[in-house]
Amino acid sequence: MSLTTFSTERVTERVGRDADLPAKITIPYLSNKKTLRRPITAVTAYDYASARLVDEAGLDLVLVGDSLAMVMQGHENTLAVTMDEMLLYTRGVRRALRRALLVADMPFGSYQTDDREGVANAVRFVKEAGAEAVKLEGGRERKDLVRRMVDAEIPVMGHLGLTPQSVHRMGGYKVQGKTMEAIDELRTDAFALEEAGCFAIVLEGMPRELASIVTEELKIPTIGIGAGPDCDGQILVLHDLMNMTFSTPAKFVRRYADVAGVMREALGEYRQDVEARTFPSDAESYHLSREMRELMAVSAEAQ
Ligand code: KIV
Repeated sequence: MSLTTFSTERVTERVGRDADLPAKITIPYLSNKKTLRRPITAVTAYDYASARLVDEAGLDLVLVGDSLAMVMQGHENTLAVTMDEMLLYTRGVRRALRRALLVADMPFGSYQTDDREGVANAVRFVKEAGAEAVKLEGGRERKDLVRRMVDAEIPVMGHLGLTPQSVHRMGGYKVQGKTMEAIDELRTDAFALEEAGCFAIVLEGMPRELASIVTEELKIPTIGIGAGPDCDGQILVLHDLMNMTFSTPAKFVRRYADVAGVMREALGEYRQDVEARTFPSDAESYHLSREMRELMAVSAEAQ
């Protein structure tokens, strides 16, 4: 048992503290942020507790990224996670969010082979897990699929540049868009996604200069990860930001906390206390009533 239920005042309290924050983030709100040149704040989350903290911190957008295959499930890339697993994680996050926009990542294999299946899977995220939008990787080749999803009333976020589902084609996780040809292709892809109806595009792993050009050229917001500061917003993988990845961070990651360090220390102390029998203390124990103790002839600190 863990007492982590919501107080109904939670959102009001938080919004009350920061009068600028709307009670609910919507897609038109994010578009307007671009117009006003106010940065969009986004992060990944995969479970109830961390999503709730993200929401309470006032971030705009939570992505249940397929990066969970790596940071939650321990796979070496994102390819293994399934639709059913993504739905499970998304449902937990849904229960935590009151304000942030919830975007679910279409996992590898859930949209690449057949557009009808892609739309059906996107519908599952909305219907079965409460997602408010989906994200998918790829450019021009996804135009028809994006159109069909948008026609089905499902908002779509694109993802260009270093697209982790293409790890085998790319030959590893490498910065993209460095040659004139690659730059032209990426700009064409970005226009194609905008035209098809995407409400935003994640730009991952590309030179700052290219991300800046694409951001200026598009009407829809860009959200960068390893794409420099000129995007309309930024997103990071929560485990990178918190130091929970057990590896040297990529150049673009800034670590805002050492959660691994905090957990290591806490778990070491807990272990010591259990081994020394100093946890739990008498005060951390339940007791029989005085009458029952007398009846059973045991003291309050009975062994
Ligand atoms: O899966 C993920 O976490 C992502 C972000 C890196 C944008 O796609």
